[in-house]
This record gives sequence, C-alpha cells and structure tokens, in this order.
Amino acid sequence: MSESIQILIPSDAIRKRVEELAAQISADYAGRELKLLGVLKGCFVFMADLARAITVPMTCDFMGLQSYGDATHTSGIVQITKDLTDSITGKHVLIVEDIVDTGLTIRYLLQNIQNRLPASVKICTLLYKPESDQAKIALDYVGFRIPQRFVIGYGLDYMGRYRNFPHIGAMYLDGTIV
Ligand code: IMP
Ligand code: MG
Repeated sequence: MSESIQILIPSDAIRKRVEELAAQISADYAGRELKLLGVLKGCFVFMADLARAITVPMTCDFMGLQSYGDATHTSGIVQITKDLTDSITGKHVLIVEDIVDTGLTIRYLLQNIQNRLPASVKICTLLYKPESDQAKIALDYVGFRIPQRFVIGYGLDYMGRYRNFPHIGAMYLDGTIV
C-alpha cells in the first residue's frame, strides 16, 4: 500500500500557535502551580514544546492510553498502559492531548482523573475534529480545529510511524484520502 502526505499545518504555524496556548495557560494559572498530564504516546512532541513555553511553576506526569481499533479508526475501548507516577489529589491538572477525534478517549480519561480528586482539571489538545466528536467534552484549550481526516506528524502516528514528521499532514493510502 502506498502512503503519501499532504501538509495541512506547517511547523512554523504550529510553533506560533503553541506559544499562544502557553501564554494563555500561563496567564490563566498565574499564582498557581500546574501539573501537566501528558497522554502518551502522541503528546510527547507537543508537550515538550508547550512545557518549555509555559512560565508558571509546573511539574509533569504521563499516562499511557491505548484505544483498540484498526489503524485509522478508534473503537472507544480504552486501556491504561501506564499509570501516573505521582498523586494528583489537590493538584491543578492540565491534561495534554495530541488530538480529540471521537472524544471517547478524553471522556474516559477525564472521568478517571476526576475520581482522583484534583483541585481542578482542564484539557489542552493540539488538534480537534469537531465533525467526529461524539462525547462533546468541554475542551479548554484547542490548538487547531481540523476536518475529519486522518493526520500524522508532530507526535501523531500511522501504525507507529511519522511521529517525527515536523508538520501536521493528512495521510493518503494508495492515493485515497483517509
Ligand atoms: P478519540 O477518537 O478522540 O478517542 O481518539 C483516540 C486516539 O486515536 C487519539 O488519542 C489518537 O491517539 C488517535 N487518533 C485519532 N485521530 C487520529 C488521527 O487523525 N491521527 C492519528 N491518531 C489519531
Ligand atoms: Mg492519543
């Protein structure tokens, strides 16, 4: 099967938007300590850039989640592959996601995090596909709204690959839009 990519969001536009998000987050959390909670694996590129642009005191932790399904469609059944290292009880948690597609993963995660009684919990996602969203969870910080296309790069993968591609690109398989 042949794979090709159309660049949707070039790296310089991503950099500019990540700086804007970090400025907004830093203003909103002024005077508070923040815990960034990254959702692996897809968050790692976005979170590295976002964290370095945030100016309030912060710590990081990570959770590994896997949603079963085929290569380009989620099933909504979520499994924790790595849990948090530290307690988040009483902490101001900001969940950092690469993408909200059907919203089923973030709905599961939000419930799981709320059960641990943080002081507050908000969500920051780089990408959001409003047309696919079934869960309608309120998203506090959104980098880009994108059409219902399968995208790769800047941490996002197709079958494990392309996470290192610096831009956000749409995948074509055998010349067909995914
Ligand atoms: P959900 O459909 O919102 O539950 O998203 C589940 C997960 O599927 C996301 O966290 C991503 O890891 C992955 N995903 C959804 N859409 C895309 C995409 O366009 N490219 C790459 N991964 C995606
Ligand atoms: Mg993900």
